[in-house]
Amino acid sequence: MQIKLAFFSLLLFLPLSLGVSFQPLDQNPGLVDNGTFGPPVEIVHLFEEEPPIGITVGQSGRAFVNFNRGDLATNPLTVAEIVNATAEVPFPSLEFNTPPDGLVNTTSGRTFGSSDSQHFINVQAVVFDPKGRLWAMDTGRPVLEGGDNPPAAPGGPKLMGFDLNNSSSNSTAPFKTITFTEDVLPALGYLNDVRFDLSPNLTASGEGIAYIADSGAHGIIVVDLGTGESWRHLDQLRSVNPVTNFLASFFGSPTYQASILRPALHWETVAGGGIDGFAISADGRFLYFTPIASRDLYRVETAPLRVNPADDMFATIRAAQNVQYLGQMGGAADGFETDDTGLIYISQPEHNSINTFNPKTGLVELFVRDPRMAWPDTLSVADDGFLYFTANQLWLSPVYQNGTDKRVKPFALIRVPIPGKPVRLM
Ligand SMILES: *[C@@H]1O[C@H](CO)[C@@H](O)[C@H](O)[C@H]1NC(C)=O
Ligand SMILES: *[C@@H]1O[C@H](CO)[C@@H](O)[C@H](O)[C@H]1NC(C)=O
Ligand SMILES: *[C@@H]1O[C@H](CO)[C@@H](O)[C@H](O)[C@H]1NC(C)=O
Ligand SMILES: *[C@@H]1O[C@H](CO)[C@@H](O)[C@H](O)[C@H]1NC(C)=O
Ligand SMILES: *[C@@H]1O[C@H](CO)[C@@H](O)[C@H](O)[C@H]1NC(C)=O
Ligand SMILES: *[C@@H]1O[C@H](CO)[C@@H](O)[C@H](O)[C@H]1NC(C)=O
Ligand SMILES: *[C@@H]1O[C@H](CO)[C@@H](O)[C@H](O)[C@H]1NC(C)=O
Ligand SMILES: *[C@@H]1O[C@H](CO)[C@@H](O)[C@H](O)[C@H]1NC(C)=O
Repeated sequence: MQIKLAFFSLLLFLPLSLGVSFQPLDQNPGLVDNGTFGPPVEIVHLFEEEPPIGITVGQSGRAFVNFNRGDLATNPLTVAEIVNATAEVPFPSLEFNTPPDGLVNTTSGRTFGSSDSQHFINVQAVVFDPKGRLWAMDTGRPVLEGGDNPPAAPGGPKLMGFDLNNSSSNSTAPFKTITFTEDVLPALGYLNDVRFDLSPNLTASGEGIAYIADSGAHGIIVVDLGTGESWRHLDQLRSVNPVTNFLASFFGSPTYQASILRPALHWETVAGGGIDGFAISADGRFLYFTPIASRDLYRVETAPLRVNPADDMFATIRAAQNVQYLGQMGGAADGFETDDTGLIYISQPEHNSINTFNPKTGLVELFVRDPRMAWPDTLSVADDGFLYFTANQLWLSPVYQNGTDKRVKPFALIRVPIPGKPVRLM
């Protein structure tokens, strides 16, 4: 009887109130994403002008950085040493960063990168080797207005080694310069990252091997550091190619490349979109890698890569058959790095984070996340117990933003404590 009455009065007094009237509440639900996870991150250097790409922190504590560039007047430096919280100084000198004939060559009617093999043109990576020598890898392909890179001319793309213990090395030539023929590095190749194994038993010369990721023409280049000879593997395989129509999100925003030259709605970057994240396992047996336009993790055994196809007609197919697919990484990746515990650190620009892949379990796990990690790019494991990385806001550069530069200065060098130490194969 009472229930019936209550129902009746509801009908009488609220005949038109068919829905609830919402008001914003002060209180949050039980769980809110705070944007952070893992060990504390520290900003240790600010780049006031140019966005950094590569970073390497050596045994001595000296740290080097590289910048992409296309114009000597506005970007005099492509390689620098970090000397304090805000300053970078030219390495090895301003003169070495200044090709006398400029960054491009248009004498033949078409524009190519300079073929200058004595000066830096546009360096993409700086990496300390296990013996503490610094290597700079020059793409030979400057960034033109609009974000595109002209094809390279042989001589321009090069790997240069500097002995920092040599008192004249701050102002003089490198101890080694390796250039590439066009069958090893095509004109649209882009030398992206390099890893070293200096174990004496790998080559006849005993001076070790450099493995290079070519993100532009999609493949792995192997260099005998003794003879300077180089060869190519995994050319254009699915595992090194960008995923077609790959669409990534940054700060939540799906991001297309919208340059005039490439209006297509996919994420094939100026640097090619191919193999980019690149690290060597702690025991030297594998290279871990991913194309930048991909969320897939691969590895390949290094032994078959060390065979030059010119010496063995089956070398190419054997290397290709040794690629293993390890599953997805949880997002697109840029830089990779390994530590001596065996972990692979995987930068995650889509999530402002770094994941780890553990080869013992096969699992990808979140390691660290922070809203200030605006495109974590290159990673470097240092002896002081930190993983250092650049955060350069790459998706806000003109090539992804229809010609407008939306990056906000300054850019950051960040570090986070890790359990491991650097991998030194020698
Ligand atoms: C933020 O959330 C994560 C879980 O996503 C938690 O591990 C962390 O402790 C939280 N940090 C703060 C400062 O509340
Ligand atoms: C940082 O180094 C630059 C270049 O050597 C120098 O001009 C500047 O005074 C230094 N700043 C600090 C705070 O030490
Ligand atoms: C420019 O191109 C010409 C013609 O191909 C070549 O002879 C010259 O060495 C090149 N110079 C540079 C600096 O690349
Ligand atoms: C440079 O010198 C230091 C100190 O003498 C030494 O520990 C280190 O091994 C040397 N590095 C190279 C690359 O020779
Ligand atoms: C090279 O230059 C750096 C930065 O100016 C300096 O700290 C270092 O001592 C120099 N090294 C040598 C070997 O002259
Ligand atoms: C130091 O570098 C210069 C210039 O590259 C070279 O001539 C010299 O032999 C090097 N010295 C040593 C001890 O390596
Ligand atoms: C080279 O020597 C190292 C250390 O002794 C060993 O672990 C590795 O398996 C050797 N590699 C090859 C290709 O023989
Ligand atoms: C890109 O810019 C051009 C020229 O400024 C403009 O016409 C076009 O609508 C823009 N495209 C997008 C997707 O915003």
